[in-house]
Amino acid sequence: MAQKERVCVTGAGGYVASWLVKNLLLKGYMVHGTVRDPGDDKNAHLKKLENASENLQLFKTNLLDFEGVCAAIAGCTGVFHVACPVTAGSVPNPEAQLIEPAVVGTKNVLNSCSKARVKRVVVVSSASAVMMNPNWPKNQAMDEECWSDKEFCKAINNYYCLAKTIAESEALEYAKNSELDIVTVCPSFVIGPMLQPSINATSSLLISFMKEGLESVENKARPLVDVRDVADALLLVYEKPEAKGRYICSSFEIRPKEFIDKLKSMYPYYNYPKSFTMGDKEVKLSSEKLQRLGWKYRALEESIHDFVKNYEDRGILHKP
Ligand SMILES: NC(=O)c1ccc[n+]([C@@H]2O[C@H](COP(=O)([O-])OP(=O)(O)OC[C@H]3O[C@@H](n4cnc5c(N)ncnc54)[C@H](OP(=O)(O)O)[C@@H]3O)[C@@H](O)[C@H]2O)c1
Repeated sequence: MAQKERVCVTGAGGYVASWLVKNLLLKGYMVHGTVRDPGDDKNAHLKKLENASENLQLFKTNLLDFEGVCAAIAGCTGVFHVACPVTAGSVPNPEAQLIEPAVVGTKNVLNSCSKARVKRVVVVSSASAVMMNPNWPKNQAMDEECWSDKEFCKAINNYYCLAKTIAESEALEYAKNSELDIVTVCPSFVIGPMLQPSINATSSLLISFMKEGLESVENKARPLVDVRDVADALLLVYEKPEAKGRYICSSFEIRPKEFIDKLKSMYPYYNYPKSFTMGDKEVKLSSEKLQRLGWKYRALEESIHDFVKNYEDRGILHKP
């Protein structure tokens, strides 16, 4: 970079965003990170990242506060919109707790980007906006043409999937009707080491698989991706001028039983689920479009090794 480029990352202290901020700082970007509470210990790790003291500025911003979002994005040429509530289970008020921050939050970010004449916005969506589609032909890999069915999401009370589907489709619609260059990335279930001190929703599920001796787990196939490979994908679609539209970002499909057998073979001493119930059909997500752009992903064993070490080093798992 001849001159340092300034970019904004929303929800900078979160699981995925922390890795992205780390990579951006290492590459010499100046980063504006939005956090809801800059003084909270849960964001303290950001200030310790390499180059953070010179190149990271935190902005106290809620996604629903348009002026606050504008203040964080002003002066940036690029924006990574990562922030969104991610919950482990259902919530009492899905409209206020999921839909509004995801949908209105994304609108606020996009409007702020237009105002600041941002060159490119990368919106983090989710495989949840792809996979809830009962009409997709069986045995055909789901690609970027596949969208979750909003009515189906409502019918099964999956408001996280609904929120991500509405937010992403409206973002791509916004792109059609504006000058803003918007690229979306849909990661599958994210695994891998955490940089942030608090445990995010998806890591907590993984930890429960190794710690709680659960009676029974549904053996439902899940697509996975390493958090560091997601951060790489976000940077890749930002930096490659030819990137366009939507990108699925997923490395493996695996059933919990197969995944846990792998964990057991590497770490036999943890407290794994006792049994598995029948899962649904196979799922297959295609990340070919992202791979054609140059994306590569690490081996599953490397992710497992690194997240277990991360949990042990932090005292979340206790090696006997
Ligand atoms: N983890 C996965 O498996 C996965 C898979 C696919 C897609 N994604 C997507 O990846 C993104 C990051 O997820 P993550 O796993 O890194 O979750 P995370 O660690 O919980 O991070 C979410 C971030 O969003 C922020 N946020 C939530 N509501 C906000 C609001 N109203 N205003 C401002 N900030 C708000 C949170 O801030 P606070 O710390 O203040 O709460 C947090 O920093 C999300 O868009 C998620 O949908 C995640």
